Amino acid sequence: MISDPETGSTDPWLEEASNVISKVSVQAQPRVLIELNRIARQPDVCFESVADLVVKDVGLCAKLLKLASSPMFSNGQRFDCVQDALMTIGFQEFRRCFLSVSIECFISKVGYPYRGFWDHSMQVASFCQVLAERFCPQHAFQAYTLGLFHDVGAVLIPMYNKSYADHIARALPLYFGITELEYALVKTNHCAVGELFARNWSLSEDILIPLRHHHNPKFDDEWSDTTRELKAILQLAELINDKIEKKSDTYTPFSQSKDTLVRICGVLGFGPQILPELEQDLLAALEGEK
Ligand SMILES: [Fe+2]
Ligand SMILES: [Fe+2]
Repeated sequence: MISDPETGSTDPWLEEASNVISKVSVQAQPRVLIELNRIARQPDVCFESVADLVVKDVGLCAKLLKLASSPMFSNGQRFDCVQDALMTIGFQEFRRCFLSVSIECFISKVGYPYRGFWDHSMQVASFCQVLAERFCPQHAFQAYTLGLFHDVGAVLIPMYNKSYADHIARALPLYFGITELEYALVKTNHCAVGELFARNWSLSEDILIPLRHHHNPKFDDEWSDTTRELKAILQLAELINDKIEKKSDTYTPFSQSKDTLVRICGVLGFGPQILPELEQDLLAALEGEK
């Protein structure tokens, strides 16, 4: 468990995190998203009723069509109506697209204190999806969701404490000392704040736990296999993403990244020699070559 470095207690992080969440008026998961998740559990999906649900929010629809027309979802094919997008990219991709736009709408309402945040979140989410499809395909949607939410706390804290805004960029890569630095600065950290935000959206514990521990090298034996796999997927996505973004020649710039990679390999069952191959897969996905 993450704990206060001074007292060993877990409470102070969460107490201050809940102050952040109440200050920025975090909303619950949008009703349409809840309904889409319910539809996803049914054996047959009625595209007409899905489109009817979504078109009610005109502002969101415009953003949805823009994202659906991006290389990430459709190799750049442009869509002017929800039905066309739904028919072409399929329901699961459409749901992923809608989730992304819903979070982006919320974040843009509270304001972007750091512009690189959304690009980072979308890229890591996309990498999580590709890696999960390879190692644990049954968790691909959860992995994408985790990638999308994992750093959201970093853009919420400045709404509560402006002094944090200059530090957001340090919370995004897989740097292991960040939670202690954040505690010294704002008496909480972006992982705890992000966990509370995601809890408001009723995300599962299998997502909340990896979100809370995404800057921690350890994997707890008591966690479920799904939790361990999702944490490994997120941290692997971040290790590769950091290498790409920094144009580095190593996946493990810190001693703790090396420890983490050993644990990731153990959880997902692969050897580090395939990392360059995984990186190529992720770069191809970025360019819409999936
Ligand atoms: Fe982070
Ligand atoms: Fe990140």
